Amino acid sequence: MTGSKSGLQKGLVSYGDQDFSLFLRKAFIKGAGFTDEALDRPIVGVANTASGFNPCHGNAPQLIEAVKRGVMLAGGLPIEFPTISLHESFARPTSMFLRNLMSMDTEEMIRAQPMDAVVLIGGCDKTVPAQLMAAASAGVPAIQLITGSMLTGSHQGVRVGACTDCRRYWGQFRAEEIDQKEINSVNNQLVASVGTCSVMGTASTMACIAEALGLTVPNGASPPAVSADRIRIAESTGATAVSMIKAQRSPDKILTSEAFENALRVLLAIGGSTNGLIHLTAIAGRMGVRIDLKRLDTFARETPVLVDLKPSGQHYMEDFHHAGGVPRLLRELKPLLHLDCLTVSGWSLGEQIDRAEASFDQSVIRPLSAPIYPQGGLAVLFGNLAPHGAIIKQSAASPDLMQHEGRAVVFENLEDMANQIDRDDLDVGPQDILVLKNIGPKGAPGMPEAGYIPIPKKLARAGVKDMIRISDGRMSGTAGGTIVLHVSPESAIGGPLGVVKTGDRIRLNVTQRSLELLISEDELTARSASQPQRPPTADRGYKKLFLDSVLGAEDGADFNFLRAQSSQTVIPRQS
Ligand code: FES
Repeated sequence: MTGSKSGLQKGLVSYGDQDFSLFLRKAFIKGAGFTDEALDRPIVGVANTASGFNPCHGNAPQLIEAVKRGVMLAGGLPIEFPTISLHESFARPTSMFLRNLMSMDTEEMIRAQPMDAVVLIGGCDKTVPAQLMAAASAGVPAIQLITGSMLTGSHQGVRVGACTDCRRYWGQFRAEEIDQKEINSVNNQLVASVGTCSVMGTASTMACIAEALGLTVPNGASPPAVSADRIRIAESTGATAVSMIKAQRSPDKILTSEAFENALRVLLAIGGSTNGLIHLTAIAGRMGVRIDLKRLDTFARETPVLVDLKPSGQHYMEDFHHAGGVPRLLRELKPLLHLDCLTVSGWSLGEQIDRAEASFDQSVIRPLSAPIYPQGGLAVLFGNLAPHGAIIKQSAASPDLMQHEGRAVVFENLEDMANQIDRDDLDVGPQDILVLKNIGPKGAPGMPEAGYIPIPKKLARAGVKDMIRISDGRMSGTAGGTIVLHVSPESAIGGPLGVVKTGDRIRLNVTQRSLELLISEDELTARSASQPQRPPTADRGYKKLFLDSVLGAEDGADFNFLRAQSSQTVIPRQS
């Protein structure tokens, strides 16, 4: 009962007698009705993230059925197992607080259980990053299956979808442009089916990144959750997982520094979520690859936005799929990509592009010669307010605010903001700059998506649609506006954002990539020295682990002990 360590013989439990361990394992699984013939096959684990609290994964049961069919058609044995599942609206205090926990759970379950390859079923914002971080660290052949985007709905003849339109209608409600009855009616239409948000938010961004990294089957990112294409992708994912076992196609062969550069190109070209950068940084960090923000900005200047999806553009994920999805985008981006990167299918990225459906006329994915935005969606800012960097999604910002000097109106934390933002006596004008402190990785904790600071109600009522907003937090990938995020170091650990006072002047210049607090160096030093130096901590449990171990935004907010210990390759490489 010894032999090669694969299938059921892999990773035996320690009883001190390996043959007995296998004997016992077989006895238990046979209790579920398996035969020896089934148990002799290579095993594909299927990470089941179905949860009643996660409607973005509401199609997981159908996907699992199709994955299993694909695995068995290819000669493997599928065995599903549960992991943590995270939904944006159901994981308090924020799903980001739990992303690293999900990655640890997934990594350890892949390692602990006898699987020769694993299919990771994820979709909602933090699930795919957590799974890819886990896959990178676990080292077992792994393939990502995306749950797929939800369908769009309709409100009074206007096409709507979560969650760019959620914010648009909520803004109208706050400005008293629509009443309670109408906002209730909109609420019924925004999420028209199970699946992930229907715009280029974080979920869609991470789906595209997973495909660009070579970790999904071709065209695996874009089919809607409830489409036949999605089910066929699931079946083919199962079959591909078996082929990966035979070829020993492990993550280290796929997740190379070149693959991460390809993923960065795609992140920029889709006008992807700012969160995508944090997650990609965390995944790369697991492989010993460091994304340098200064170099990324140079990279961004030469990578235009080609995909016309909300919130940067006008279309939805189903339109992106019908236009050809990621394979079509990769074809347009071909001159900027490393084409010899290996993918889960065994083909190189270049071969995969060549095998994709022939190009046809459409308006959602533009050619390099006619982009919807001439530079990448993200710009990296530095300055005395963000010595380690900050980012802005320039493709979704207001052009007239990209170079602006204004008076800071400061909120010390989330509670302070909630108490003040809607007060009629709040001293704020449309040219002011809203600053929110203490929402970084350690500050809130968990770096919540509160960087999309609402327009103060009295200004919203007066018709103000956008203002510069600055924080050390994140914002949803579905949101837009002139919003500076991920300011680092964060205020809770002594970053300069912590010393800003209401009435200070701040200058944002996106063209020059600068973010400056307009006080003297001496004043900044004096204020920093008088700041309380008490990094947040906790007495016990996961919160303690999180606060003691989480890194800054520029390191992907991963835990310090989870990153690769090997020397780091820095990307993007300079030409
Ligand atoms: Fe799950 Fe948007 S809430 S993808």
